Amino acid sequence: MPGASADVGGDGRQAQNVRHGAGNAARVQTRRARPQDDGVAALGSRHSDGSAGDANYGVIGAGYAHYRRPDPHIAEFIGRALGDARTVLNVGAGAGSYEPTDRAVTAVEPSAAMRAQRPVHLPTAIDAVAGSLPFEDGCFDAATATFTVHQWPDLAAGLAEMRRVTRGPVLILTCDRDALDRFWLDDYAPEVTAVEASRYPPIETIAKALGCATEVLSVPIPLDCTDGFGEAYYGRPERLLEPGARLACSAWSFVDPSVTARFVSGLTQDLESGTWDAKHGHLRTKSYFDGSLKLIVGRVES
Ligand SMILES: C[S@@+](CC[C@H](N)C(=O)[O-])C[C@H]1O[C@@H](n2cnc3c(N)ncnc32)[C@H](O)[C@@H]1O
Repeated sequence: MPGASADVGGDGRQAQNVRHGAGNAARVQTRRARPQDDGVAALGSRHSDGSAGDANYGVIGAGYAHYRRPDPHIAEFIGRALGDARTVLNVGAGAGSYEPTDRAVTAVEPSAAMRAQRPVHLPTAIDAVAGSLPFEDGCFDAATATFTVHQWPDLAAGLAEMRRVTRGPVLILTCDRDALDRFWLDDYAPEVTAVEASRYPPIETIAKALGCATEVLSVPIPLDCTDGFGEAYYGRPERLLEPGARLACSAWSFVDPSVTARFVSGLTQDLESGTWDAKHGHLRTKSYFDGSLKLIVGRVES
């Protein structure tokens, strides 16, 4: 098994040593999580597949890896911010998007459905939650959390844990709730935008909770973005008519099915009549969209 790693169990209490990174023999010291550390259990129960956030990936996760492939342009932003970090912790790792293959990665992912979708060349993910990371203080050079913090039951606890176990930069890839309405989806399904706006923590809240100096980078979204979060389809509206594409964005699982039905019929009609193109057609050839995507980089000053 490449980059074998350990399953710390659903309750995150078992002490483990973790070998990480394909062929990399480096070991990360782990600590025995205290029962009272179990952030999620304290705040609410995990879903049946272990999902520990507001979305149940046991229900919606099956097609995730197909629709949410890491995008090379976004990956470049992350690679640059990681600098010369050799050991990287990825929290809420899902199917492994944006995990560098040239560094030793340790992945944490509570959902079994998501862990099962990790490609074989990536390390097996540890079953643990952001609010109670089973690692010693300062044992990673850097840490990442991509498209996940908006789902955590206790944002402050999760970010404090990331900061605690990391010596160098902590990277949070997320969406700016105040910029979500730049995307035309808001015309067709404002309920989805509203759900997203209520879930994404304000950028300043994240920056403050990291408790260190932060830099906030805007990440322009490429026209052919391979990571199908909502705005990825800004210039390819037809793609959002695919049920699987919507399912890969958890926001759709929080709106009434009537909203989805109205969205599909409204957008289909507007595409057929040319109404969408008359208003938004310029986006079909726009190379990058300045949407809501942000990379927050927290650095401890030395
Ligand atoms: C939208 S997916 C993103 C996955 C991956 N980071 C990516 O960029 O494709 C959100 C992930 O966060 C995970 N997650 C939710 N709540 C979590 C928590 N409390 N601790 C750790 N991970 C969590 C979910 O299980 C899911 O895999």
